Amino acid sequence: MSEATKNRGLLAWIDARFPFSKLWIEHAAGYYAPKNFNFWYYFGSLAIFVLVLQLVTGIWLTMYYKPDAELAFASIQYIMRDVHWGWLIRYLHSTGASAFFIVIYLHMFRGLLYGSYRKPRELIWLIGMVIYAVLMAEAFFGYLLPWGQMSYWGAQVITSLFGAVPWVGDTLMIWIRGDYTISDVTLNRFFALHVAAMPLLLIALVVLHITALHEVGSNNPDGIEIKRHKNANGIPLDGVPFHPYYTIKDTVGLTVFLMVFAFVVFYAPGMLGLFLEPENFEPANPLSTPEHIAPVWYFTPFYSILRCIPDKLWGVVALASSIFVLFLLPWLDRGKVRSVRYRGLGFKIALALFVIALLVLGHLGGNPPSPGRNLVARICAVIYFGYFVFLWVYTFFGLEKTKPEPDRVTDGSAKWMQKLMRRLMQKWKQWRRLEETQREPM
Ligand code: HEM
Repeated sequence: MSEATKNRGLLAWIDARFPFSKLWIEHAAGYYAPKNFNFWYYFGSLAIFVLVLQLVTGIWLTMYYKPDAELAFASIQYIMRDVHWGWLIRYLHSTGASAFFIVIYLHMFRGLLYGSYRKPRELIWLIGMVIYAVLMAEAFFGYLLPWGQMSYWGAQVITSLFGAVPWVGDTLMIWIRGDYTISDVTLNRFFALHVAAMPLLLIALVVLHITALHEVGSNNPDGIEIKRHKNANGIPLDGVPFHPYYTIKDTVGLTVFLMVFAFVVFYAPGMLGLFLEPENFEPANPLSTPEHIAPVWYFTPFYSILRCIPDKLWGVVALASSIFVLFLLPWLDRGKVRSVRYRGLGFKIALALFVIALLVLGHLGGNPPSPGRNLVARICAVIYFGYFVFLWVYTFFGLEKTKPEPDRVTDGSAKWMQKLMRRLMQKWKQWRRLEETQREPM
């Protein structure tokens, strides 16, 4: 029997017992995605890749790491110096954490650009936001594990925020820590949450996220529904099967990502103190508070919002609201069109200001506070929240002047690429012709 027949036989055997081919067709070979996906559509598949990378490297680290306040810091040194390839596994995991947030922030920004959170994709966005919240918790729990100075004091500061909750604050804070301060007990529970509870939750949420996406179908850079135009077989005219078209295209994104990622892992794993903070190369010391306590870069915009408000309780309320307001986005935006390509100038300016404010807040949150910095942080916090208020007013009262949407998807963003390819082909043909005319007859 040939290999192919054997495989077909095996596949038939599996299909009679498990819907393997059915799932493959439903979610890959027969899932029609819009044909105009651009750069911004790489980050969903990259997020899946980074999630798998974190799970695999995390399992390997757990084989050598010791979740014990007396041994944790030394076990990381052991992994870095003595375990075969331990340094690589650890740097892949620590760089992977920052890469995860870079990928997720770009993935979320794509949602803002093209209105992917709008009807009928509200649930995809909501599940995405829950993923984001769980990812933040996962990173926070993981950061305590190396038991360095910043691990310890960062956890101390963030858990103390729960103390601001009226009436039950102190009890809640002690309940979370399992002790009056951050201690071995806290380390043990954070370890359990980091290596088991949160990863399981993340995997389950990603499955829900993709299931919801495949139910309604993907949005695209034009923000129009491809399901509006179908052929006689019910296939969207502007769709292409996810496999092989996007499985192949996504490998291009993955290759470029891996090149940048490998460069960071091998040449700049600390990223000038952004990915690995210098203070964390010192073991945790409960008797010595670092001069300046700051979270890792991906939390700094929100830390900045917390810090720029003098009252602790209101600071915590502002911090929680800055995340919560993102959940409401599908209902705040009432615009007539989805994609930034056809939206009014007001939307474009507001989105640009929102991103600038977020970057400035991120920068300020990583630096010690000063009266001047606090003022700038407050202005940026107002712009941050102002974006959501503006979006609602602008779209609810019909103030937005939109451009007409096309009836079918366009491939506008790829025009420069097509032009470049055409030029290159022309040059190549010219060169071949020249070479042929110059070649001496045999
Ligand atoms: C572990 C984290 C995540 C993974 C693995 C993931 C994965 C994916 C994948 C594979 C897609 C389809 C491909 C694409 O459109 O790029 C997608 C779509 C989407 N994701 Fe996520 N995602 C994650 C987190 C998030 C977060 C945090 C949000 C927002 C809060 C979000 C919002 C969306 C939206 C709105 C879509 C539909 C986009 C469209 O059709 O234009 N995702 N996600």
